[in-house]
Amino acid sequence: MAARKNRPVWSGLVTIYYMNSSVDLLVAGEINPDLILSGNVDPAFSQVEKLVDSADLTIGSSSVIFACGAARLGLRVAFVGLCAADPFGRFMLAEMNSRHVDTSSVLVRSDGQTGLSVILNRGVDRAILTYPGLVAALTAADVTDDLLRQARHLHVASYFLQTALQPGLPGLFARAQALGLSTSLDTNWDPSGAWSGFDDLLPRVDVFLPNENEAFALSGTNDLELSLDHLCEFCKVVAIKMGAGGAVACRAGEKAKAPALKVDLIDTVGAGDSFDAGFLYGFINGWRLQKSLQLAVACGSLSTRKPGGTAAQPALDEAMQYVSPA
Ligand SMILES: Nc1ncnc2c1ncn2[C@@H]1O[C@H](COP(=O)(O)OP(=O)(O)OP(=O)(O)O)[C@@H](O)[C@H]1O
Ligand SMILES: [Mg+2]
Repeated sequence: MAARKNRPVWSGLVTIYYMNSSVDLLVAGEINPDLILSGNVDPAFSQVEKLVDSADLTIGSSSVIFACGAARLGLRVAFVGLCAADPFGRFMLAEMNSRHVDTSSVLVRSDGQTGLSVILNRGVDRAILTYPGLVAALTAADVTDDLLRQARHLHVASYFLQTALQPGLPGLFARAQALGLSTSLDTNWDPSGAWSGFDDLLPRVDVFLPNENEAFALSGTNDLELSLDHLCEFCKVVAIKMGAGGAVACRAGEKAKAPALKVDLIDTVGAGDSFDAGFLYGFINGWRLQKSLQLAVACGSLSTRKPGGTAAQPALDEAMQYVSPA
């Protein structure tokens, strides 16, 4: 991974470690574009052809949208994942590079196709059809110790799409932590509804970033406070995203709450991933919980102003206008 620039660092041994890290965030994730169709997108079968208002090929995949959001805030971000040398793979690599995400550790494979999501977009709601392709094939072994040693923090998203990564993820997070990295996870929704496999994983997650429904499903309660308390028993920091309702967070008994911004909303694609980028910016920089949460909701809300996940992701100075002074 190529170093982009060095950041100021704070103290002692941690300082020495961070000075040796060329990357703030390593993202182990899925790579696919989104084809976003908007308008009257309800499909009519029996070979009916309907016309929609717009069609945009954009950066897709939760992990890549997150990586782009974090790089836009100024973090040094590297990505490990799989794609093919096909049009969708080439599109994604070019877009990631143009947004300063280091793709030198992406594995370009010839034994599969790059995945694709088709998003049928109706404002705040959407249906998603995904062809996983190589998305499902990344394994924990692809995230080598050499890669981990170059980073301060490891983030994983789209847990349920990355089926080959799932069994090795507790071990990968343990390996990362042993090498001095912190870890974070955004599962996104479990299409099977089973929500299994987390007993070994959650205790290895330093920062857990579910949305409200995901938090409820995992904690077995529809009470926000109880859900937050329950998840905080396993993870050091938990932030629960609540769409237009903003977000709540806890860390070691401390609680925080932040309202969403009022924005001229175009679509909410990737709002959760942009939120994650903002929250982890604060976490990595040792910010207070409330300040990290304010930056997170600002990043999430501002990202909804343009179509797709990345077009309206804010730079740090823009997002900081919505963060109270420390
Ligand atoms: N309708 C909205 N208006 C304003 N801000 C929003 C809206 N929807 C989402 N956001 C912002 O984005 C953040 C994360 O959104 P959300 O709760 O939808 O996450 P998510 O469900 O994980 O999203 P994703 O679909 O990307 O996985 C919210 O905390 C809020 O700051
Ligand atoms: Mg989400």
